[in-house]
Parts: sequence; C-alpha cells; structure tokens
Amino acid sequence: MSRKIIIDTDPGQDDAVAILLALGSPELEVLGITAVAGNVPLALTHVNVRKTCELAGRPDVPVFAGAIRPLVRELVTAEYVHGKTGLDGPGLPEPSMPLQEQYAVDFVVETLMAEPEKTVTLCVLGPLTNIALAMIREPQIIPRIAEIVLMGGGCFEGGNTTPAAEFNIYVDPHAAKTVFGAGVPITMFPLDVTHKALTTRARVQRFRDLGTRVGTATAELLDFYERFDEAKYGTDGGPLHDPNVIAWLLKPELYEGRHINVEIEAASELTMGMTVADWWGVTDRPKNAFFVRDLDADGFYNLLLERIGTL
Ligand code: RIB
Ligand code: CA
Repeated sequence: MSRKIIIDTDPGQDDAVAILLALGSPELEVLGITAVAGNVPLALTHVNVRKTCELAGRPDVPVFAGAIRPLVRELVTAEYVHGKTGLDGPGLPEPSMPLQEQYAVDFVVETLMAEPEKTVTLCVLGPLTNIALAMIREPQIIPRIAEIVLMGGGCFEGGNTTPAAEFNIYVDPHAAKTVFGAGVPITMFPLDVTHKALTTRARVQRFRDLGTRVGTATAELLDFYERFDEAKYGTDGGPLHDPNVIAWLLKPELYEGRHINVEIEAASELTMGMTVADWWGVTDRPKNAFFVRDLDADGFYNLLLERIGTL
C-alpha cells in the first residue's frame, strides 16, 4: 500500500526536484501540494508548484496556496539563489492547471481529520508557517500526523542565511518553534546532511544524459540553482537540500542520524532561527527530532535518476 503524503513547499529549484521525485515514485500517494511563501513570494510559489506538476505530466495533483508571510516576522526571500521567478533555469511555461480554491491550511486540517489517524506524512520543504497555522487552527490534527519530515536547520554546519540559521527556520522561527514543540515525530534534514549531497558536474550531466524532457529540465534547474552555492562554498556543485525529504520515505537506509533534542531560537536577533541541537546529549531536554547527519550521496543520486527517469 502506498504512503499518503502532503508536500508543503516554496519552489525553489530544489523543491521542484523533490516534487518530481515524489511524483515519480509509486510508493507515495501525493494527496496534495501546499505552497508557502519562502524562496519567493506565495504568488510565485503556487505557480511554480503547478509548473512542476505539469512538467511531471501530473496536472491532476491538487495544489493549494497557503501563508503569504511568516507568523510574526516580515517575509525574507531568496531570489539571489533561485532567480526572480524562483524556478529560473529551464524556462517552464505558465501553468494551465488550476489552483484549488481552498486555503492550504484548511486542506491540511481537513485531510488529517478525514484520513485514518497516523496515516498521513507531512513533507515540509520550506518555512513551517502553513504547518504551524494548521496546528493552531485545529490542535486535534497533532496526534493524527504520522510523521513530519522536513528540510531545515543545522548544527555543526552552522547556518546558510546567518552564521547561526538555515533559511527555512530563519524565515519563520516562531512557526518552527510551534512545530518542534508539538510532540509530533519529526525527522529533520539539516545542512549537516544536505551539504554532503552536492550537485557535481558529473551528477548533473547524468540527468541530461537521460535524454528526456524532464531529465533535461532537471539538469537546467540544477545548473541554475548550484551557481550561487558553488561560488559561496568553493565546491564542485552546490548542496541539494529538499529531495532528501522524499528520498527518506523511499530509502531510509541511505541515511544515518540520531534522536536528539532540538530547540528553536526565536528571541535573540543575533541567533534568530538557530536550531539548538543537543547532539551530545548534554541536557535532559526531550528528544523531539531524528536529526539526520549523514547519507550515501551516490545512492541518493541514483535514486533521483531512476525515478525522474520514469517521468
Ligand atoms: O536552506 C535551504 C532551504 O531553503 C531549501 O528548502 C531551499 O529550497 C530553501 O527553501
Ligand atoms: Ca525549499
């Protein structure tokens, strides 16, 4: 039986590759995709979700628009990484599939209340605003969530937006605090593991070598997306963040981590959005997250190629 998921996302080239991986994997049933403001404003992220679904040949997937800004702080975006459309690279056509009328937060609440409890996994690829809003709107959903698998945070790798904070958590630290404090099983993919999944020239070429429309578009997404991080980190390729969330559901054996306590800084401007990860267990705080620290990078890219090659 396939695993039911909702993808919450702020595309973003890496988000788009994660969506393609999910839509190319029959083990997963994508109940819906909810857009949030993050890499670029909401008006673009919900368009980019639909562009990606149509690229995958899946105009049937219900797409919803959610939060237009974080819970408390002003929206911070990342056009400097993702380009002005948020999906620069392949030049995908404007979508013709509709955006759902229903507000994304209401879709998340309604779905979790309607599906049997502990059968729906939330895959969160951007700021946690929509998920926090759903929990606040209807706390009864909290014990019904099977697992929250998210890309965000960092420990030994520090931050990518400030010295202390990774982008998704930095944009909405209050939402992250709400989610990490809710008691739902969380599996997190921080910079500590995503920085080991580099889009090297050789790996990007393999997508081009697929010789398919989706393979070529994926190579073009990665070519554009990696240029900022290559210059920043001086590496061959940049870290590929969000597809790890989906790969975890398909092949958890690719990853290593440990259950630890993770708290979110939402008070100090200096360390706003920092994930304070107790990796060495020096406190007695509750172990609220499975913190992934290592991966089989070649196995990850082989999985991506295999599944995207089917689209
Ligand atoms: O810090 C990386 C994260 O921020 C990724 O999810 C990327 O898409 C951006 O949202
Ligand atoms: Ca993202």
